[in-house]
Amino acid sequence: MVVRHDFEPRILGFLCNWCCYAGADLAGVSRYQYPPTMKIIRVMCSGRVDLAFVLRAFKNGTDGVFIGGCWLGDCHYLTQGNYDALSMMHLCKLLLKHIGINPVRLRLEWVSASEGIRFAEVVTSFTKELKELGPLGSSEEIDRDGLKFKLEAVNNLIPYIKLVERERLRVHFDTEEEYEEYFTSHEVTGLIRELIGDKLAMSQIMLLLREKPLPTEEISDILDISPSEVSRHLDSSTRQGLVRFNESRNLFTPV
Ligand code: FES
Repeated sequence: MVVRHDFEPRILGFLCNWCCYAGADLAGVSRYQYPPTMKIIRVMCSGRVDLAFVLRAFKNGTDGVFIGGCWLGDCHYLTQGNYDALSMMHLCKLLLKHIGINPVRLRLEWVSASEGIRFAEVVTSFTKELKELGPLGSSEEIDRDGLKFKLEAVNNLIPYIKLVERERLRVHFDTEEEYEEYFTSHEVTGLIRELIGDKLAMSQIMLLLREKPLPTEEISDILDISPSEVSRHLDSSTRQGLVRFNESRNLFTPV
């Protein structure tokens, strides 16, 4: 892939105070060279990084989000928050993929306080990866407004997604490989498609209708969802009292 030398990615980094932030500090003190592409937010544990933080960062146009925590087993809290971070990262990647954003734009790494050189290396490698992808939306072929719209729709579903996560996806494994295997299994990808796919489509339809009343065909064109699917969502929303059909104008409006 071609590296775009004229493009400097903007990365938002959430660094755990006890390990990765100290590692970043050491990289600075030791004068290790790495690209100045990351804006850092210090958090007390990588487990503190919420799904909403990541989605908001992308909605604000960040090209990549980095989460840096302590190595598994080294988290400074009894709850071992870095396992939660690992789980959240996998779930978030699935959601990003679902709305057409390259999941590579989200990266989680373990960096200890003594690994200044490793911090410099991971920032350099993430920056290179993002340079190859280009600005957010370019490799995805989605324009800025389209991206914002999709992220807003997912953002509106966060309470529901958290409920699904708590009820159906909360797992605890010992290794990263087990998390990877679980979150890429048919069981989980199917669950996301089934439980979140429909809600996401509905969330997007509601956002559109809040802007102006629309007919089924136009919603289908804008969202690139088949008219029969749009019609199914509108039927169910009409039954739930969320939208109303204006027969004289052949348009749907939110209630
Ligand atoms: Fe560093 Fe929890 S304290 S990841």
